[in-house]
Amino acid sequence: MALPDILKNSLEIPVIGSPLFIVSGPELVIAQCKAGIVGSFPALNARPAHVLEEWITRIKGELGEYQAKHPEKKVAPFAVNQICHASNDRLAHDIDVCTKLEVPIIITSLRPPAEVIDVCAGAGGHAGTLSPFALVREVKQWFNGTVILSGALSDGWGIAGALAMGADLAYMGTRFVATAEANAEQAYKDHLIQYAAEDIVYSNLFTGVHGNYLAPSVAAAGLDPNNLPEADKSKMNFGSGGNMKQKAWKDIWGSGQGIGQIKDAPPVAELIERLKREYVQAAREFAERMPAEALTASRAAAE
Ligand SMILES: Cc1cc2nc3c(=O)[nH]c(=O)nc-3n(C[C@H](O)[C@H](O)[C@H](O)COP(=O)(O)O)c2cc1C
Repeated sequence: MALPDILKNSLEIPVIGSPLFIVSGPELVIAQCKAGIVGSFPALNARPAHVLEEWITRIKGELGEYQAKHPEKKVAPFAVNQICHASNDRLAHDIDVCTKLEVPIIITSLRPPAEVIDVCAGAGGHAGTLSPFALVREVKQWFNGTVILSGALSDGWGIAGALAMGADLAYMGTRFVATAEANAEQAYKDHLIQYAAEDIVYSNLFTGVHGNYLAPSVAAAGLDPNNLPEADKSKMNFGSGGNMKQKAWKDIWGSGQGIGQIKDAPPVAELIERLKREYVQAAREFAERMPAEALTASRAAAE
């Protein structure tokens, strides 16, 4: 498994809680890291710009105190997401703050990072169109570093499936919108519980980049989700949350296709305990399907 040193002994399950515009703030990130997965937030969520320093100081302080009180627990490092696009006029400032405060992990969007995050078909927010089966196996042919898979992973079976394909970490977004600590209105969480994959629409209208959104929120904004026009790409704007009157993320709710499995909005700690149980169960059931002699022979060949 190609995990960077910082993640080798600090995770309860191989999961990154991905950055979520508007939705992820200190409460969500602290709860994720305390429960043993990487928590992250987009720097742009901290507004105005000086609030970023307050958020990072608070997160580092609370996680440090918690680890000191519970030395036996795996407290995961946190990450800050930087949108590397010309419309983000805070980028230089935000990177300076993260460097000064020694943020453990930086996740870049719209520019390749040091490790590869495969954002496949069905992911919440900006997403690709490739099947994860095609993408992960192809990337593994030329990339030896950490591979992180994202897109419609909502339960422990999804995490186990990502690792079975060869990814090192699962990157989960939408599932964490439906948690107690997420900064999302109750109606948004209720929609994630109520609707399923067929209620997700893929469009570039709202930000200029194709992404997945909850069709009922598109309809509530007065648009026909089955008949959306193409975006004007010259108006791409990631700093303000979109290029329409109804703002992407605030009024038009981003969502991956993996919402059929979301039945509640529990506290993060409870959700991560559940994900852990499901992940272990999925791995056990998978291993049990293998003939014992084939497993023994494969282990011997690998040694
Ligand atoms: C509401 C919402 C907001 C998002 N905001 C960001 C963001 O600000 N930066 C980013 O890199 N990705 C963002 N994403 C994409 C996620 O980080 C991640 O790639 C995606 O959620 C994974 O797919 P899943 O939602 O199906 O788990 C967002 C996704 C959602 C659903």
